[in-house]
Amino acid sequence: MTAELLDGKSIAEDIRSKVKIEVENRVKKGKSVPGLATLLVGENPASQVYVRSKHKACQEAGILSFGYDLPATASQEDVENLVKQLNQDPKIHGILVQLPLPSGLDEERVLNMISIEKDVDGFHPLNIGRLAQKGRDPLFIPCTPAGTMYLIEKVMPKIEGKNAVVLGRSNIVGMPVALLLVRANATVTICHSRTKNLPEVIRQADILVAAVGKPEMVKGDWVKPGAVVIDVGINRVDDPTQKRGYRLVGDVDFDEVKEVAGVITPVPGGVGPMTIAMLLTNTLRAAELADK
Ligand code: GUN
Repeated sequence: MTAELLDGKSIAEDIRSKVKIEVENRVKKGKSVPGLATLLVGENPASQVYVRSKHKACQEAGILSFGYDLPATASQEDVENLVKQLNQDPKIHGILVQLPLPSGLDEERVLNMISIEKDVDGFHPLNIGRLAQKGRDPLFIPCTPAGTMYLIEKVMPKIEGKNAVVLGRSNIVGMPVALLLVRANATVTICHSRTKNLPEVIRQADILVAAVGKPEMVKGDWVKPGAVVIDVGINRVDDPTQKRGYRLVGDVDFDEVKEVAGVITPVPGGVGPMTIAMLLTNTLRAAELADK
């Protein structure tokens, strides 16, 4: 292995302990305990796992968390009424609607209804719109993209002028990561399923962010020697040798790419833990905004 392993788990633990101390300090001063509400609609097993780990992390940081679960049959009105209620609740500083919502529900309308001061996921159209515009600042930056940038900045102090390639253009990861890289003055290329000569384009990248959800898609000979490779993918692949019958792999073929890249994140233990650390950071910030 020639690449440096960028250990998201331990970086995230540092951030989480700092958040915990800040929460303790504010509570000692008589300020409110930060509170996060999660809203989970339906029974998507991956979403259930994510939401559970978000509650556990809140608890460890001294942040209150309130879980609201609605059945997959919930109507648009049920979901919107719950969001309205959470917007009004002073114990709740952050509202996270776990995505994707079951089909039939209008995600954009739900996200639009979240009070922007409580939009700890940063998916409100106004926050995303500000992220996309020069000279404007969102109140919150989406958690996985923020965690991705934190990792890049850790190993690359000067992003300005670098070639960055983002593989994937999702609302949750690819597009906001690309916007953040543009804000950091990188030269950004977004690749997707219709991109021609994909390996050739990716080989130009000083920074590669892979977020397409295709197991081990990026091969060793697609990567520029010395590149910083951030693997956002979390894919289950069958593996009868594992007790649970599967293992987790990223969008990057780790065994191949680690021999070429300068820095690489593992899966699991790379970007995943950073998402949760950023959610706690955003929730603390939401409580601080509410103090003012
Ligand atoms: N689904 C996958 N990632 C995320 C995330 O960061 N936030 C929410 N709300 N839903 C997700």
